[in-house]
Amino acid sequence: MKYLFRFFAFILLFSFVKDSMAQLSARQTLDFDEGWYFHKGDDTRAFEIAYNQNHWQPVTLPHDWSIYGPFSAANPATNLGGSLPGGIGWYRKTFSLPETFKDKIVSILFDGVYKNSEVWINGHFLGMRPNGYISFAYELSKYLHFGKGKNVIAVRVENSKQPNSRWYSGSGINRNVWLIATNKIAIGLWGTFTTIPKISLGNAIVNQKIKLENRIYSSTDVKVVCAIYDKTGRMVATTEREVELKDTNNQLSLNLSLNQPKLWSPSNPYLYRIATKIYKNKKLLDSYTQAFGIRSYRFDASSGFYFNGKPMKILGVCLHSSFGALGTAVNKTAIERELRILKAMGCNAIRTAHNPPSPELLDLCDKMGFLVMDEAFDCWNKKKTKYDYSIDFKKWHRKDLTDQILRDRNHPSVFLWSIGNEIREQFDSSGTVITKELVAIVKSLDSTRPVISALTEMDPDKNFITKANALDLLGFNYNSDKYSLLPQRFKGQKFIATETTSALETRGVYDRYSDSITSWPANSKEKYVLKGNPDFTVSAYDKVAAYWGTSHEKAWLAVKNAKYMSGLFVWSGFDYLGEPTPYPYPARSSYFGIIDLAGFPKDVYYMYQSEWTNTPVLHLFPYWNWKKGTLVNVWAYYNQADEVELFLNGKSLGVRKKQGDCLHVSWQVPFEPGTLKAVSRKDGKVVLTKIIKTAGNVEDISLSADKNSIKADGKSLSYVTIQLRDKNGNLVPDDDRLINFKVVGNGKLIGLDNGYQADLESFKGVKHRTWKGKCIAIIQSEKRKGKIVLEVSAEGLPKRSIKIDAE
Ligand code: GAL
Repeated sequence: MKYLFRFFAFILLFSFVKDSMAQLSARQTLDFDEGWYFHKGDDTRAFEIAYNQNHWQPVTLPHDWSIYGPFSAANPATNLGGSLPGGIGWYRKTFSLPETFKDKIVSILFDGVYKNSEVWINGHFLGMRPNGYISFAYELSKYLHFGKGKNVIAVRVENSKQPNSRWYSGSGINRNVWLIATNKIAIGLWGTFTTIPKISLGNAIVNQKIKLENRIYSSTDVKVVCAIYDKTGRMVATTEREVELKDTNNQLSLNLSLNQPKLWSPSNPYLYRIATKIYKNKKLLDSYTQAFGIRSYRFDASSGFYFNGKPMKILGVCLHSSFGALGTAVNKTAIERELRILKAMGCNAIRTAHNPPSPELLDLCDKMGFLVMDEAFDCWNKKKTKYDYSIDFKKWHRKDLTDQILRDRNHPSVFLWSIGNEIREQFDSSGTVITKELVAIVKSLDSTRPVISALTEMDPDKNFITKANALDLLGFNYNSDKYSLLPQRFKGQKFIATETTSALETRGVYDRYSDSITSWPANSKEKYVLKGNPDFTVSAYDKVAAYWGTSHEKAWLAVKNAKYMSGLFVWSGFDYLGEPTPYPYPARSSYFGIIDLAGFPKDVYYMYQSEWTNTPVLHLFPYWNWKKGTLVNVWAYYNQADEVELFLNGKSLGVRKKQGDCLHVSWQVPFEPGTLKAVSRKDGKVVLTKIIKTAGNVEDISLSADKNSIKADGKSLSYVTIQLRDKNGNLVPDDDRLINFKVVGNGKLIGLDNGYQADLESFKGVKHRTWKGKCIAIIQSEKRKGKIVLEVSAEGLPKRSIKIDAE
């Protein structure tokens, strides 16, 4: 028996090795993020092989040099761009490749570089790419050395002409980089396109289009095999075809029939994988596997959106491509955390404002269940800031848009292509011409998804983009009080609110409020006038919005109550660096988020959760530390209950029920220290209870990690929340402290933040103040297993620490 077991183990091992060798000889995609050197500044000779880079700084990609600061009003990005520096930077990496790569086609793939990147290999110029959000590749093969020979790749990044963005862009190779080696007969880059031409209850037809490159330059016969695997890895469909490859580029189309298909949806994101393999005389030449999902959806002019045949409201948020204290340096765990927080709020869709996202965002949306409106541009030929993409649009839009669609069209999450946000050409006839051209580009590459643009002009006679009659769906930003005019004005069209709200809040700040919504700025002239709080905060009661926007409640209700509105994308999911309307410097990050820059939900998060989920919600605010006698407005968001009763120190302050179009209940309470308690009830039975106590002096610091164990892969993150506590463990909201941080063990501290929009402390230091009793420390693993310990200290308080396992 023992020998039989060994025999089978050997067979198993042998087939594994054989299979991985076959994979190895077929295609290699290597993570190329490590071993780079960075220099901030220009040096015209830095592309040369023999250049001395001894004084350069070692970095691991993705890397954003701007986030290291310092903040300054003098930075040319202005506070629209986060008041952080831009400039010019260089990256170099020296690497060697095995002899076995000699016969391969070797390429480097950049997921994105902000911006104006120029790339050299071994002193040879490969090309430049202005767009800071687009993925691009260069073939390296003919310049490479193999075996003992060294290769040098050099990248110059230019982000000195600013402002070039209306938000913080970051600078550098801020997305992942890959080295791809294939045989001379191989599937092209972004060379597969999976569609589902037919779905019925019992069966789906899956069509796989394949671009096959033949670099042998003579005709040759190959066998192409496609196989679909379900979630458990079981093969559920397969087909194959013998083909004669002639040209360099061969197009192929195969159909597979899938029985009893499982559908992908935001609530059940079921992913299949499809493998495409190329064989020549039984030898595997290439193998490429990607995820896909089976789903159907449609928009209806009068009744909105249907997903897999059922009505569904699109409950989305707009997200910029930056990650708080990490800047724009892409990190999968950081994106996953953002999506996890949004998922718990009930969000089911993301708009990638206003540019192509990182591939990781789309992979995670596929996996976690979010629909994605994948956006291409914030401007066409007409600029919004002095040095923005309008300079490059004419020369590059065709290539950029094409590459975006080719890269992203296999993601089941992607359900809309947007050709632009608030494009200025909507006001003149050039808008009609460009719209037609862009839509034609998209349709030539993917006719399965609607094309949209985020518009502002709601008068069909004045909107030259809608005049093109080329969009499948009309998306409007703001003006929620005019939604009811749309069906009349744009007869027979389908609608979505591509952008709403732009309300303003600072987490944990509660000014006395009036019952009306304050517009701030109140009009376009008031834009730069400073009024408001001396500490650059905005009250977190949902009562303040930019003049083009409105409160969260009002915008959501407008969409909720309009059946023809298929859904919305709230501006914005998270606060982001830059665009700190309504304040000047030192305000440097936005106030628009439902969640602050550090990832702490603002109160209004729970309004959405109460409306968008079935999770029982009872959220009570503000905190309960005030001057005696202050008249405090106490609010609660709730669901799954008929009423909420509030008690102060055991005495009832009355029962409230949501009335009419109001999504919260409130009380005016003269402050008395003690315990504030809210109880929600349904049919007289208690559903939830919430208690807030007056906090005493700060006596302790508490630490909690979103992950107590992370992968020892040098990339994974744990977000540790630091909170100031009184002796009874209550959060102290009004006595912020400077906290010192130290990481020991197999990890490092890579970011600190507290979510306060005008905090000028570095995100990358070792000390940070709390804001309203809280801050966050971001810990990254190294490539070593073991313990990571975060130690924190603050004057007069006990030292505390937390342990995270790197596994
Ligand atoms: C919109 C714009 C967004 C953002 C927002 C702020 O008009 O599309 O990018 O600037 O305003 O309110």
